[in-house]
Amino acid sequence: MSLEPVELYRDKRHICLMFSDLIEEDGAAVQANQFLIVDGDTGAILDPGGNLAFNELFMGMTKYFPPSRLSYLVASHADPDIIASLDRWMTSTKAQLVISRIWERFAPHFTKVGKTENRVIGVPDQGAQLPLGQSVLHLLPAHFMHAEGNFHFYDPISKILFSGDLGVSMMSGTEAREPVTDLLPHIARMEGFHRRYMVSNKILRLWTRMARQLDVAMIVPQHGAPIKGTQAINDFYNWLDGLACGIDLFDERSYQLPTGRIDPVSRQFRP
Ligand SMILES: [Fe+2]
Ligand SMILES: [Fe+2]
Repeated sequence: MSLEPVELYRDKRHICLMFSDLIEEDGAAVQANQFLIVDGDTGAILDPGGNLAFNELFMGMTKYFPPSRLSYLVASHADPDIIASLDRWMTSTKAQLVISRIWERFAPHFTKVGKTENRVIGVPDQGAQLPLGQSVLHLLPAHFMHAEGNFHFYDPISKILFSGDLGVSMMSGTEAREPVTDLLPHIARMEGFHRRYMVSNKILRLWTRMARQLDVAMIVPQHGAPIKGTQAINDFYNWLDGLACGIDLFDERSYQLPTGRIDPVSRQFRP
């Protein structure tokens, strides 16, 4: 807990930080990474996370610029581990929320009435380039990976691709600090998640075709460890290209009327 953020990139005006362990290791909540991109005297928080992460991320940010200078909260999609803390960010900063157009009118449910008024930038399906300080953040289409309206973020200065729930691996926050450079032994920690949370192989292949056009130094997911270096990144694209997932694996057996019971005392499912 409370380890310093991982510095993914730094030059004299541009910094990318990953906060990987803001949650109790033995807690019930899944480990999640939050990101701060600083450019000069402003910045953006990517996938700010739930309320568990708010305090330390907010304090971490104030080391670089005053909260009033935060330009954006950028959300890859609208899950609770992405923007459940939205109300507190909207209250404590003047930042605008950047989120898929299809979630634009759902996000206000995370906040008190009026907090998001004139402060939401709805991103169209085709994605966009978003000015950030003297730089620009690329909002890449990543729909159905896993949410219906989903974006990844590419920072052309650090060459980091922030990939939301794609590339996720299950591990502790401490382990997540160490980038993976050899994909093969890492696959076991990604496979179960991707098979269930990614929507279909067709989508994965459309995405890799787009992503291969980018110069990527590191792929950094919202849970687990970054994937670093050309070899590991290419192996990751190849693995996705061949991965059956989501609706590829569902058939009529998945849609039977249920007969198992849940015991509310033990909270266990009994087939
Ligand atoms: Fe998600
Ligand atoms: Fe997530």
